[in-house]
Amino acid sequence: MDIINERRSIRKYRDKPVEKQLIADIIDAGRAAPSAKNRQPWKYIVFGGKAKEEMLGVMADGLSREENISASLPESKAGLPDARNTLRIMREAPVIILVLNTNGTSPFIPLSADDRITEICDTLSIGASIQNILLKAQECGLGTLWIANTCFAYKELTEYLDTESQLVGAIAVGYPDESSVQRPRRPLDEIMEFRF
Ligand SMILES: Cc1cc2nc3c(=O)[nH]c(=O)nc-3n(C[C@H](O)[C@H](O)[C@H](O)COP(=O)(O)O)c2cc1C
Repeated sequence: MDIINERRSIRKYRDKPVEKQLIADIIDAGRAAPSAKNRQPWKYIVFGGKAKEEMLGVMADGLSREENISASLPESKAGLPDARNTLRIMREAPVIILVLNTNGTSPFIPLSADDRITEICDTLSIGASIQNILLKAQECGLGTLWIANTCFAYKELTEYLDTESQLVGAIAVGYPDESSVQRPRRPLDEIMEFRF
């Protein structure tokens, strides 16, 4: 419970590299997560140094296209300033892990109800895996940020990765350079209902 309660989204990182072995250890914790039909539909691609800069340049291109030329998510345009801020944080973090659903398809392709249910199950499985990673990172003294704002550069990033898998987000990892109190949580009696 201590690790669960002490974890925070970290948006400021120290200028200190993270050992590859430590990254492998936290992803190994992600591997232990439950998954629908044990499909384990996750893949983690780790970026650091020049490779990270190049990948984030691709994400920046996607955000610029979204802002100026043709928005692929026009109803989410209000989220673009936040996405810019997330990109700035990603540039400062020493490590960015892109998260793929290997069983998923592009969100721009419509799905049948059956396939949508499968996708929900796979997304939940990946969420469980990501949370394991965040908690293991916390135990190792690392800070993390779970990121969904990669969605605005979906096309650019999946082309860059040369993948047919679904990009579900990213995780920033590094040594934290901030401490904060827990953001407000909804009260237990509001989110829980006993019927017995
Ligand atoms: C699926 C998901 C996507 C998120 N995407 C972003 C993001 O793109 N940028 C960002 O700064 N924070 C992002 N967050 C972090 C949330 O803002 C954060 O978890 C929430 O405000 C609660 O704060 P805490 O993590 O410190 O408890 C995301 C969190 C989740 C679970």
